[in-house]
Amino acid sequence: MQESLELLSRAINEWMPKNRPVSQNPSAPELEKILDVSLGEQGCDQQSLEDAIKAYLHYNPDASQVDFFKLLYSGRNKHALLGDWITSLSNATMHTYQVGPVATLMELELIRQWNKLVGFNDGKNEGEGVMVAGGSQANLIGMMLARHHVCPDYKTKGAGGRTLVAYVSDQAHYSGQKAANVLGIGTDNLIAVASDDNGRICPVALQQEIDKSVAQGHIPFYIGITAGTTVIGAYDPVAACSKIARAHNIWLHIDGAWGGPILFSEQYRHLLADSHLADSFTWDAHKLMNVPITAAVILVKHEGALRACCSGGGGEYLFHADENAAYNLGERSIQCGRRADALKVWLSWKAIGNQGFAAKIDHLQSIKAECVEMVEQSESLEMLAPSVYLNVLFRYRPEHMTDEQEIRKLNIEICKTMMRNGGPYVDYAQYKGRYGIRLILANGEVTREHISVLLDQCELVGRELAGQ
Ligand SMILES: Cc1ncc(COP(=O)(O)O)c(C=O)c1O
Repeated sequence: MQESLELLSRAINEWMPKNRPVSQNPSAPELEKILDVSLGEQGCDQQSLEDAIKAYLHYNPDASQVDFFKLLYSGRNKHALLGDWITSLSNATMHTYQVGPVATLMELELIRQWNKLVGFNDGKNEGEGVMVAGGSQANLIGMMLARHHVCPDYKTKGAGGRTLVAYVSDQAHYSGQKAANVLGIGTDNLIAVASDDNGRICPVALQQEIDKSVAQGHIPFYIGITAGTTVIGAYDPVAACSKIARAHNIWLHIDGAWGGPILFSEQYRHLLADSHLADSFTWDAHKLMNVPITAAVILVKHEGALRACCSGGGGEYLFHADENAAYNLGERSIQCGRRADALKVWLSWKAIGNQGFAAKIDHLQSIKAECVEMVEQSESLEMLAPSVYLNVLFRYRPEHMTDEQEIRKLNIEICKTMMRNGGPYVDYAQYKGRYGIRLILANGEVTREHISVLLDQCELVGRELAGQ
């Protein structure tokens, strides 16, 4: 242990120097040539292990830096990082209270607090939930709950000739497709409903798609709307979709993996004001709350729904009917071994508090507003979508350039060049057929100055590439 601690200390102090490039950007073939990752019959010496750790840290993009704008997380949450280390130290698992007693109580408290924010424990309902291995799994369970709600015998009998149909918007995360595949729904039966100019699902189009399915004798069972879409951060209209869901007895799930934390902010929670109307909700703590990956939860309004849907087996050796049986979270989960992710989330929530997360969101929203203003004032940059949350999708376009393919190529090249330069790290994305640069504001340390430098770089690199 002491040896490992010393190594960790060297890794932090020596192998991750301050101001190192955000990305080394090695190509896979290059890296394969440089690194020997082969395994063999014989064990190796300590130096080989140290070299491997050094290389791992060196070549991995540094998501802790303030210039890391690529993903839906950036920076470092020191409390959560400590929690992650302690979790590995304990190697607890979460199927029963017995083997993770403190983490179980922490997870239950987190679920209470999350449900309070979403509005699932409102006096009438208590709400429930379970932590899962990421937002994709939370969305999968949301769809599974929906399937169980409409066809409870699907769990035991299978499809039995029935065709179930799910609806998400054309801006939804691809985890909907994964879920439709895993659950035997069939990806063709996941309908991508048209979104409007603001990237929000069109309720009229949703209704039309449902009518079409019913006319075909199919069973609409799941509406999955998004709070904070992946590319532009749009919030689907909850109340209008809830009305449609209720009228057809369809389960309404909100994917708040990225945009759920807006509920911390008094100033901005109106974007998700009707979240309590949903049946289930996905929340990723490893995105805006910046807890080390993975930390996510599926929240459910109806108590007992998770156990009814997910349980099965384990009673003969694991889930003993003892005095703590009600605390065994494993029967709500599709996992057996499950990491004690609660500790890192609980520690950071305890340290930062609701107000701390709210302050982070409010700060980033004000930086976002300044960023949008800078883009709009620039002669060569333009916004590609409205920005209500913390995504800014814009592009570089010289005055003379009108061909969409040319603009697309130029913006992709800008991102690649900036990545190679090791400075501010952004990525390109496509929205409604047009390509631009996606900037994600997830790091609470980011200032107007960082944004100004980033936009200047985009213009500078763009000008050079366009030969101006
Ligand atoms: C809106 C949305 N939902 C779900 C996910 C999937 O979450 P995870 O990466 O935790 O599986 C993402 C990931 O970016 C997302 O943006």
